[in-house]
Formats: sequence, C-alpha cells, structure tokens
Amino acid sequence: MAELVGDDSAKAALLLRAAQADVASGIDALFDQLLPIPADPRSTLYEAMRYAAIGGGKRLRPLLARAAGDLYHVDRALSLRVGAAVEAMHVYSLIHDDLPCMDDDDLRRGKPTVHKAFGEATAVLAGDSLHALAFEWLVDPATHSDPFVRAELIRELAHAAGPAGMAGGQMMDLAAETAEFDLRTVTRLQQLKTGALIGFSVEAGAILARIPEEGRRPLRGYARDIGLAFQIADDIMDVEGDEALAGKALHKDDAAGKATFVTLMGLGRAREQARLLVEQAVDHLANFGEEAALLRAIARYVVERDR
Ligand code: IPE
Ligand code: IPE
Ligand code: MG
Ligand code: MG
Ligand code: MG
Repeated sequence: MAELVGDDSAKAALLLRAAQADVASGIDALFDQLLPIPADPRSTLYEAMRYAAIGGGKRLRPLLARAAGDLYHVDRALSLRVGAAVEAMHVYSLIHDDLPCMDDDDLRRGKPTVHKAFGEATAVLAGDSLHALAFEWLVDPATHSDPFVRAELIRELAHAAGPAGMAGGQMMDLAAETAEFDLRTVTRLQQLKTGALIGFSVEAGAILARIPEEGRRPLRGYARDIGLAFQIADDIMDVEGDEALAGKALHKDDAAGKATFVTLMGLGRAREQARLLVEQAVDHLANFGEEAALLRAIARYVVERDR
C-alpha cells in the first residue's frame, strides 16, 4: 500500500512537471508572438511588458486553465490563449502591486521590478496595457469560434479582475494594514485578491467546453479551496520562505502590521488548514477519473511549493 501511494505520488509529480514545462514554454512563445516590439516611440512600453511577462513565474493560472480544459478535451491551443489572457492580467496586478504607492518592492520573479527597471510611469502603462490586452486576446476568434463563449470568458475575467475580485481584494489588503480584520474578513480579502483569478482560470476550462453553470459546481468548489490554500501558502512563505527561491522580498506582511492567515492562526494551524483545504479540493473532483489527475497534482503542489 505504502509503495502504491509512493508510486502514485511519483506519477503525479512527473505529470505536473511535464505539464508545467509545456505550459511555461507555450506561454512564453505566445507572449513573444502577441507582444512584438513596434518600431516607434511605444517600443519601451512593449519592452517593459515583455520584461514582466516573459520567462518567469510559476504560470499557475495558465496551468489551471490547461488542466481544467483537459477534463473536457478542450483543444490545448484554446486553453493556452485563455492562459495567456489570465497570466497577462496577473502580471499587470503584480506590476502595480510592486509600485511604490502599493507594496514598494524592488524584486519580482528574481529580477528588479518593472518600475525599478523602466521607471514608474512606464510600469503603470505596462500594467494598463496588459490589462487591456487580456480582453483583446479573449475577444479574438482564435480563442474560440463561438462568440457567446468569448463573451462569457470576457465577462468572467472582468468580474474576477475588478472591484468584486482582484482589485477589490487589493483594496481590502491595503485596509488590512490599519484595520483589525478577523478570520472571516481576511478569508474574504484573500478570496478576492487571489482566489478570483484562480477561480477564473479553472472555470475557463469549463466555459471553453460549453459546460453549463450547474455542471461547474465541483470545479468552483475545487478552485475556491485551492485559492485559499494558495494564499495561506503565500502567507506562510512570507514568514519562513527563502527569498532567493521566492524571487521576491519576504517578511513584509508582519512588518506592515497586516492581518494574514498566519498572524491570525499561527504557523501550525495555518499549515494544517492549508492541508485540509487541499484534501477538500481533491474531494470535489471525486466524480472525475484519471482526466483530473493534473488538477489533483496541482492542488497538492499549491501548498508544497517553495516559490
Ligand atoms: C504572487 O502570485 C502574488 C499572489 C497572488 C500571492 P504567484 O505566486 O502566482 O506569482 P508568480 O506568478 O509565480 O510570480
Ligand atoms: C499580491 O499580493 C496580489 C496581487 C497582485 C493581486 P501580495 O502583495 O501578497 O503578493 P506578493 O507577496 O507581493 O507576491
Ligand atoms: Mg500586495
Ligand atoms: Mg506584494
Ligand atoms: Mg504575499
């Protein structure tokens, strides 16, 4: 039995590594193609976008779009385009998150932040541009032949990125520096700040496959649980992670007096909660078979990662 479990987890690790490598190279190639540098005074803007978007990060959101699409045998070229759109949105959120007016960070993905390398004004515009391009890429018929599918992808991404999603969560995150948030409020903050884009990435696989809303419940449950587990892992990493591996400054939450899962629960309980959420996420996939193996592997990876 123990051997069997060992075998299974080795198989899952291989599956995950292969998918991660494939998605990472696919996303880099697609960004390279979608962001050609024009021979005019906008070239610096494109260089800044390429600097931020190409060749870095875990590519978790595109990986989730691929894995969810695979459940329904969605053409991988389509789930990759959706992956590029959500990754562009994520990269924009990181560029703005690092600005002096927000977290004021110098390092991201192991290199100087965009405003350090290109200046603040260019960083703001690079973020704005990636935000807009995400929608432009989704509306392109290359993303899906059905305009209703494209419209739904756009609506869901807009919802996940805006005040009811990531931007709203970032606002709550700023407030967390001075307000005394309880666990319920911090959970909501994290669901918006991080969970919404992760949720979009997973649901997009089902949207591409034209699965009606009521059929997406298990995937939504999965996404909610791994989104929270992911953020708990980020909070734990902020306390005890390795900056060289993470590629960003750590120990910032406590210094800013921010309520996080770790400050509210302590490290031990936070770790246990993340583990329970992963088990719960995997349980949501009980009605799927081998086709959900990658989603299960991602759920485990989300809390075991060191970067
Ligand atoms: C970092 O996201 C910011 C959070 C939402 C916690 P990731 O941990 O996914 O960052 P990258 O994409 O791998 O750089
Ligand atoms: C950033 O959260 C989340 C978004 C950009 C939406 P954090 O500020 O905790 O992320 P890191 O730790 O800088 O990556
Ligand atoms: Mg922040
Ligand atoms: Mg930050
Ligand atoms: Mg953080």
